[in-house]
Amino acid sequence: MTNEFKRYTVTAALPYANGPVHIGHLAGCYLPADIYVRYLRATGKDVLFICGSDEHGVPITIKAKKEGKTPQEVVDHYHRLMGDAFKNFGIQFDYYGRTSSKTHHETAQDFFKTLYDKGVFKEEITQQYFDEKANQFLADRYITGTCPKCGNENAYGDQCEKCGSSLSPMDLINPRSALSGAAPVLKETKNWFLPMGDIQQSPEFKEYIKRFEHWKSNIKGQCGSWLNEGLQPRAMTRDLDWGVPVPLKGADGKVLYVWFDAPIGYISATKEYFNGSSEWEKYWKADDTALIHFIGKDNIVFHAIIFPMMLMQHGGYVLPANVPANEFLNLEGEKISTSRNWAVWLHEYLEDFPGRQDELRYVLTSIAPETKDSDFSWKDYQARVNNELVAILGNFVNRVMVLTWKFFDGKVPTDTTAREASPTTLEKTDALFSTFAIQQKEIEQKLSTFSFREALFDAIDLARNGNKYLQETEPWKLIKSDEASVRFILASSLEYCRLLASVLNPFLPATSASIFTQLNSKGEKLIQGHSLNEAFLLFKPIEDSEIEKQLAKLQASKVMNSTSTTTSNIEEAKPEITFEDFAKNDIRVGTILEAERVPKTDKLLKLKIDTGLDQLTVVSGIAEYHQPEDIIGKQVCILINLAPRKMKGIESQGMILMAKEPSGKLVFVSPSVITANGSGVA
Ligand code: MF3
Ligand code: ZN
Repeated sequence: MTNEFKRYTVTAALPYANGPVHIGHLAGCYLPADIYVRYLRATGKDVLFICGSDEHGVPITIKAKKEGKTPQEVVDHYHRLMGDAFKNFGIQFDYYGRTSSKTHHETAQDFFKTLYDKGVFKEEITQQYFDEKANQFLADRYITGTCPKCGNENAYGDQCEKCGSSLSPMDLINPRSALSGAAPVLKETKNWFLPMGDIQQSPEFKEYIKRFEHWKSNIKGQCGSWLNEGLQPRAMTRDLDWGVPVPLKGADGKVLYVWFDAPIGYISATKEYFNGSSEWEKYWKADDTALIHFIGKDNIVFHAIIFPMMLMQHGGYVLPANVPANEFLNLEGEKISTSRNWAVWLHEYLEDFPGRQDELRYVLTSIAPETKDSDFSWKDYQARVNNELVAILGNFVNRVMVLTWKFFDGKVPTDTTAREASPTTLEKTDALFSTFAIQQKEIEQKLSTFSFREALFDAIDLARNGNKYLQETEPWKLIKSDEASVRFILASSLEYCRLLASVLNPFLPATSASIFTQLNSKGEKLIQGHSLNEAFLLFKPIEDSEIEKQLAKLQASKVMNSTSTTTSNIEEAKPEITFEDFAKNDIRVGTILEAERVPKTDKLLKLKIDTGLDQLTVVSGIAEYHQPEDIIGKQVCILINLAPRKMKGIESQGMILMAKEPSGKLVFVSPSVITANGSGVA
């Protein structure tokens, strides 16, 4: 594929501007895209690399509501944060746009208008839930109710997060508006639908999908099953107040569907990059342009089917030449989740590991979910950095540099074309370079077919071979007997470092630059007498303590989650009892008169309680959560007819009622206002 095209328009999915970027985003989309683009550029290709923030859609309005901000404030904040994170990790977009820009709004509206004028859309009147209190139609996510499958009372209009079923708002029992809590009513509304089923039958689309044959199997598979099921019309407009307004009369209060406007963001970003000149057109319209979309697997249908249909219906645009989608990256065996804070955030990584971006790029590429979901774990991160980057790559470059400084005062010691060395040295060196040439071809082949993991493994093998070469030629020993050969070995090794630095650039740009810095080279071949810069280590080992800190951070998210989840740690329901069973409990309101710790225990307090009838001594296991001095005078509910029990030598004459939270925390069940001691509780 690589050679038929004159230029490449490479896009990376526009991330929603409602949260920071995490390692899953990087591994799934932005890193492979960046590697690919760097590879294309290195081979002299004309490439345009486009991304930007997706600033519309319901998730953003929900986030804004939650934080008491306007959607614009939310997207302004995250647009900056995301742009910075990408820059810090060396993702070299030519342009990072945003869908709230004027150019974008105009471009998306023009696009819609063109399809409308061509009669592409089907107008349909449907019944949608409407919140009369809030005076607006409700997006699926804004409707909650009882899941018909599992009875979860807090299922969303598009999905039940408890049982995982995907739902439509009409499926919910007892629907409620998340805006006002009111029961929504059904109301008619008009929207414009893309007749995907019809387009699927068109000769042009049938021709287009032949391309899937050459695409990665995960995409082929997903698209195949969508197409087999038959595509349904999908509304390209929504009743919502955040987005690109529908450019039609009588469409007030309606915006373009976020999945209609977002991919057009690639086009509007290209226009902005070219500053209003018509240069942008050839990156989208010329037949010899390859359009390539890097995305995560949840975006496949939009990029491989819906957006191409839009482009096709519009006319004049090229269709994607490839859509290399990745699967998902998990974290320590669990799905990454923004809401549960189960993630490694790029901006936090940078705070904890400043200047060590390439280490993360390296590990994420090594474990990239190219064909199936994969897992990031901190222990594995440490092992890969220490055993591969430090021990193999860093070690090789450092040995070459240090030896050259030691023996030849930091100068390239010979001209390798003179070949002044022993026959064995020449032979070993030739073998090293011919293996390099073969491997390099393979790496390019793998990069051009989106096998970035394999390509990286091969690149590290090149460094491994370099180490082996030094191990076998032993210049540190040979220096005593055959200096000419040592000159040749080190000059060759320096040349090898130079070649290696170029091969590494797509994967590890900062490291590649550091090698060039040490070689004092901008990429040009090193000649005899050329002065090197000082040697420094490319990587340092990751300490156990650094890993423990990261694991503790994740552990903290776990604890936070278990205190906030409503379902996971709740005790199971008990069997039914009769009223008589219940009435046997004599529960009264009482007041704590005295409280002290039971010596030599962590959990127990000894309390004296006025029950209105008499004063009882109670031993209670609440000391982890309540200090004695804080609870004296507090009213509680106490079971007074419990048979006395001895605990730590103290007779306990009753039991205080406590509520146990899912986290294990114990809180008092107390009357809501001051109540006479001795009042019965039933
Ligand atoms: N914002 C979407 C997501 O994060 C991706 C949009 S890609 C685009 O899943 F092309 F449509 F913009
Ligand atoms: Zn359910």
